[in-house]
Amino acid sequence: MKDEENLITAIDFLKKGELVAIPTETVYGLAANAFDADAVAKIFEAKNRPTFDPLIVHTYSIEQAKTFVKYFPEKAEILANKFWAGALTLLLPKKDIIPDLVTAGLETVAVRIPNHTLTLELLRQLDFPLAAPSANPFGYISPTTAQHVRNQLGNKIAYILDGGASKIGIESTIVGFENDEITIYRLGGVSVEAIEALVGNVNVNTHSTSNPNAPGMLASHYAPRKPFLVGKFEDLLREFAHLKVNQIAVLAFGAYLKEIPLENQFNLSPQKDLKEAAQNLFAGMRTLDNLDVEVIFAELLPEEGLGRAINDRLRRASVR
Ligand code: TXA
Ligand code: MG
Repeated sequence: MKDEENLITAIDFLKKGELVAIPTETVYGLAANAFDADAVAKIFEAKNRPTFDPLIVHTYSIEQAKTFVKYFPEKAEILANKFWAGALTLLLPKKDIIPDLVTAGLETVAVRIPNHTLTLELLRQLDFPLAAPSANPFGYISPTTAQHVRNQLGNKIAYILDGGASKIGIESTIVGFENDEITIYRLGGVSVEAIEALVGNVNVNTHSTSNPNAPGMLASHYAPRKPFLVGKFEDLLREFAHLKVNQIAVLAFGAYLKEIPLENQFNLSPQKDLKEAAQNLFAGMRTLDNLDVEVIFAELLPEEGLGRAINDRLRRASVR
């Protein structure tokens, strides 16, 4: 079996303290032994990631999580039971076994059980959890296929475990617990509505600060290299009337933009399905970024469910 051989290769490298890209249902991660600070340091180097930006620790069970987390607040346990394995990351009080480098010196560690068969099997066969940020150079668009990882980090990492395209397509929702308050620090694959249905009202605090708690909160993130402009298509067309139509690319949702050549457009979801749009988001941004154009236009999606998390990515990718 190909998958089994690939798993063995991945396990070998991880045990040796090397980096392996792993598939998850949200985006691909760049993984290392979370208990080994030297291995974790390689992640920051490969990604060019500032060390003030902490990593998520991936595990296969609540039981394993309890070996490196002091305790689960009651509401954290409720959320974990409902949404794990899944696109939810919980900020929990860490035990000393987690190196400070993983948490950037914070007292909490970000923890998640990813919902991907191959990666769950990998985690089960290891006797340590995996620290893994998204497998992209810092600040660039997150990868949702093995090829995306290969294109950008291929020569910097030991191995890429190919598990197909990520089914959700945007990162996990990050949730923290202070006293009796619940705060969402990053919008993601589990919607605010779904969380509130379970635990009541939560705060949403995803705004960037000078010293961000979650640098997914940094104002500029998930960004293509080409100028990415978010606004009403009508206004953008007027503002960029000096460009030829073939110098403009469009990230469409539903209808295409009739003024722009079709080959310059990527449709997130012709049927206006938010789930499909999330799946296609990062691949679409990459496709347009690789075209020979001057600018990329995008319009915000409906601000509900996954639309909120998608819009968050669009705003942060935007140049203004
Ligand atoms: O879906 C995901 O979450 C993917 C897959 C691979 O699991 N991972 C991911 O990792 O998106 P990354 O490193 O790109 O984003 C992790 C975010 C960062 O914004 C980081 O600042 C935040 O989580 N974070 C990690 N530990 C934290 C902590 N202790 N307190 C606050 N924020 C934390
Ligand atoms: Mg990331």
